Amino acid sequence: MRFDIITVLPELLESPFNHSILKRAKDRNLLEVYCHPLRDFATGKHRHVDDYQFGGGAGMVMKVEPLAACIEHLCSERQYDQIVYVTPDGAQLNQQMCNRLSMGENVMIICGHYKGIDERIRNQFVTMEISIGDYVLSGGELAAAVIVDAVGRLIPGVLNDETSALFDSFQDDLLAPPVYTRPAEWRGMKVPDVLLSGNDRLIEEWRHEQSLERTRLRRPDLYLKYVKGQGE
Ligand code: ADE
Repeated sequence: MRFDIITVLPELLESPFNHSILKRAKDRNLLEVYCHPLRDFATGKHRHVDDYQFGGGAGMVMKVEPLAACIEHLCSERQYDQIVYVTPDGAQLNQQMCNRLSMGENVMIICGHYKGIDERIRNQFVTMEISIGDYVLSGGELAAAVIVDAVGRLIPGVLNDETSALFDSFQDDLLAPPVYTRPAEWRGMKVPDVLLSGNDRLIEEWRHEQSLERTRLRRPDLYLKYVKGQGE
């Protein structure tokens, strides 16, 4: 899978993809991530990528021409499954969206800055608008990094244990159960006996109950969705 990220701050994205699981994915040629500095597509002496907004008001807007030039250049080289714009007014990212994105081959991500990008770019090119939560970041780069991480780890072969992503929180609308490792007793606090029992069926049952209870308490919205889904 390949990500092409359009950004005015490629330096911000140098580190996140070069460690741990994503680095391994890149080393195994399962994942490619390319950052495209938007300024390279700007023209004129000052290579401006932003300008004042029509109608007045504080804050700059990212210009159409450099963005269009970069997007069209990338689209001339390959077909994209999605052209994503990361923006606080997009649809909130969830596991289902990540699963769907991970089935694609090429995904482009446009990072906004300042007041955002000219609306005509959204209308003309963007196929998916994603927010990573109800707060405003100073730019889209960290949101893009979140998407590449959450999607990249779902590509088959990226995780060591192929099945482990299936048991992540949210994969079945439930939060994951608590986990423990050695020592079995620490400062008087013991690991639940069932996890030491060696009885796979009982362990599975316990984990499921814990997932249900944790979801009911912490995310009643998800719990309701789960319960409704079970009834269908
Ligand atoms: N850009 C600025 N804030 C953002 C957010 N919450 N999600 C995605 N992109 C953003």
